[in-house]
Amino acid sequence: MPPCSPEAKSNHIRTQMKRKNGIVIAIDGPAGAGKSTTARRVAHKMGYLYLDTGAMYRAVGLVALQRGVDLDDAEGVAALGEVLDLAFETRDGQVQTLLNGENVSEAIRTSEISQAASRVAVHPEVREVLVTRQQAMGKDGGIVLEGRDTGTAIFPDAELKIFLTADPGERARRRLRDLQKTGESPDFESLLADIRTRDARDQQTQLQRGAWPAPDAVRIDTTGVSVEEQVDQIVALARGENGRIDE
Ligand code: DC
Repeated sequence: MPPCSPEAKSNHIRTQMKRKNGIVIAIDGPAGAGKSTTARRVAHKMGYLYLDTGAMYRAVGLVALQRGVDLDDAEGVAALGEVLDLAFETRDGQVQTLLNGENVSEAIRTSEISQAASRVAVHPEVREVLVTRQQAMGKDGGIVLEGRDTGTAIFPDAELKIFLTADPGERARRRLRDLQKTGESPDFESLLADIRTRDARDQQTQLQRGAWPAPDAVRIDTTGVSVEEQVDQIVALARGENGRIDE
């Protein structure tokens, strides 16, 4: 190991002391950019917790539809978010989303719920409730969060921020494969159109709140890149192998 300069040493100590369990890794990007698989594997390699913030918006969308709450009713939907009994559990190596104890992992992945999640996410009232919960879950570090605003609104001080992108066509193909696993068989063109609608809405939601993506995020275009390569690159950044972070 090369000798550590006094400055590097004090940075090291600052990072060490900042959070109890390690750093915060914030992975943002549009739908289908490969965030979930990548974030889960990075968390596994680092021995970190994993938080899918999108699953929280999806769960709120699901409950709103189940209870007949209008998706445009900001306060009504935010009230649902406040009392949401949500838990994440790893079963057979898969992260499962439990809503009121019921496994909704598949139910929240349908096209209908994707659009509902994107619609409830436009309300600042809903975002405030969920962001507060997400900050509480990640404040001690040792966590990988994925979503849209993990490196901006949730953890603007995250030690490592990644912005994953990919061609809309590639993202639609990935979504097609995911949805086929849940038993849906949408056609490619309508999926691509859905992705474009959601991209535009999600991007506008984020831009209303400030710079997006975070200016200090490392951008990784995942088109044609294997998940393993992305994961290795992010883990190397997290471990400071590229001189970014001294964990
Ligand atoms: O990442 P995802 O596709 O599961 O997210 C579902 C929707 O939730 C997405 O259309 C935008 C919204 N979302 C958000 O606004 N902020 C987040 N941190 C995560 C998701």
